[in-house]
Amino acid sequence: MQIEDSVAFVSGANRGVGARFVTSLIEGGARKVYAAARDCSAVSKGDSRIIPITLDITDPAQVAQAAATARDVTLLINNAGINRLERAIFPRDNTAARAEMEVNYFGTLGMCRAFTPALIANRGAVVNMLSILARVGLPMMGSLCASKAAALRMTECLRAELAEHHVRVLGVLPGAIDTDMSRDFPPPKLSVSEVVDAVFAALANGPDEVYVGAMAQGVGAGLAADRDALQKQFAGYL
Ligand SMILES: NC(=O)c1ccc[n+]([C@@H]2O[C@H](COP(=O)([O-])OP(=O)(O)OC[C@H]3O[C@@H](n4cnc5c(N)ncnc54)[C@H](OP(=O)(O)O)[C@@H]3O)[C@@H](O)[C@H]2O)c1
Repeated sequence: MQIEDSVAFVSGANRGVGARFVTSLIEGGARKVYAAARDCSAVSKGDSRIIPITLDITDPAQVAQAAATARDVTLLINNAGINRLERAIFPRDNTAARAEMEVNYFGTLGMCRAFTPALIANRGAVVNMLSILARVGLPMMGSLCASKAAALRMTECLRAELAEHHVRVLGVLPGAIDTDMSRDFPPPKLSVSEVVDAVFAALANGPDEVYVGAMAQGVGAGLAADRDALQKQFAGYL
């Protein structure tokens, strides 16, 4: 699908990758961009094509309202996500695992369900922002890995369910990106533009599962070549 003339909906649009999606969609000729955020005061303004929407993706009433407002959507970008940087088994904060599941899995699932009727009617596309950690466990953020793995499997099932309706479903698996979420990680990190450009390229003419950057592509290749060895390598990052 082309960005030009699309009607996009972006969650988590106030900062990080989401804010870049909004800018790049406008630059790419989108007809309208619903820019959704918990706090819309930081959403990019000054262009009449950008429509701010107040949305916490874990709030079913707000999700239903957003879907009812954006019935003309052709491109849903489920970008909102959290990473509490906690282990799965020995967390400092044992509320993290449930919170990550609520946002990264149930929130994304609820968005997909709510927007599916419009996406079918408009023969649209869905982009789910996952992580390369959906495919391999990194113990220092184990509960994040589990939530993204759940979202990856859900994305695969969504793709299967919507195929007969001609709705494309992309799962995006980046390595570390230079945003608030990875502020304490060492380089190398992807720029937000690199991530958005890779998603747009895949929408135009690319795979449904998008490995963004050398690190993510290396993990994908490593899992295919020797899954045990790759898992052992990541298990060392406690
Ligand atoms: N950064 C990385 O290294 C990295 C790597 C792989 C994948 N990803 C994924 O890429 C996506 C974008 O991440 P980012 O790097 O841009 O992170 P970020 O800078 O931390 O931004 C996260 C965005 O998600 C929003 N959000 C969080 N919980 C929400 C909720 N319940 N409802 C609605 N919005 C919510 C945040 O809103 P508030 O401002 O209100 O908190 C913010 O807009 C996420 O899905 C993330 O998991 C990131």
